[in-house]
Amino acid sequence: MVKLHDKTFSHFLTEDEIDTIVQELADRINKDYTGKQPLLLGVLNGSFMFISDLMKKLTIDCELSFIKLASYSGTESQGEVNELIGLSTTLDNKDVIVLEDIIDTGNTVGKIFELLKDEKTKSLAIGTLLLKPDVFKDQFKVDYIGQEIPDAFVVGYGLDYDQLGRNLKEIYQLSS
Ligand code: IMP
Repeated sequence: MVKLHDKTFSHFLTEDEIDTIVQELADRINKDYTGKQPLLLGVLNGSFMFISDLMKKLTIDCELSFIKLASYSGTESQGEVNELIGLSTTLDNKDVIVLEDIIDTGNTVGKIFELLKDEKTKSLAIGTLLLKPDVFKDQFKVDYIGQEIPDAFVVGYGLDYDQLGRNLKEIYQLSS
């Protein structure tokens, strides 16, 4: 049991279970990208721990970059405008794998995908450690899913509750 701010969280996934999930994802990526050199594009902040562990399990050559989705209000006609920040490398002719910590509604990755789809990538795939199928309605294809989880709020292993909990080695869910 852990307490973060005003809420308590109970065990959800142990370190070993997370390790197994990450290994399975790495095995699939190693196989699918044999002879290629994918660019892992991590979505900050939550994905940093997952990507660190995933990368250590990749045996193929691979590159790394991180991005963040920033939203700001545009003019009235534009409404909300989304922008990718942090992209420090060209995606031209690269096999890009966008990696999220968790897909809930899918809005974040959906917007990132929209912003990236006009880049001249060789291929564009999406991967996530966790996905909530009860909330995510298959708006787009997610190529690599570590584990599907119920619609619960989870913290730890990079995931936060109001900026706390990212340092936890295990994943916890909000106690009802
Ligand atoms: P989405 O846009 O609804 O798919 O949500 C994506 C982002 O919301 C993730 O990258 C997380 O930062 C955050 N998020 C969604 N669900 C959770 C959760 O259960 N715990 C912590 N953060 C979450």
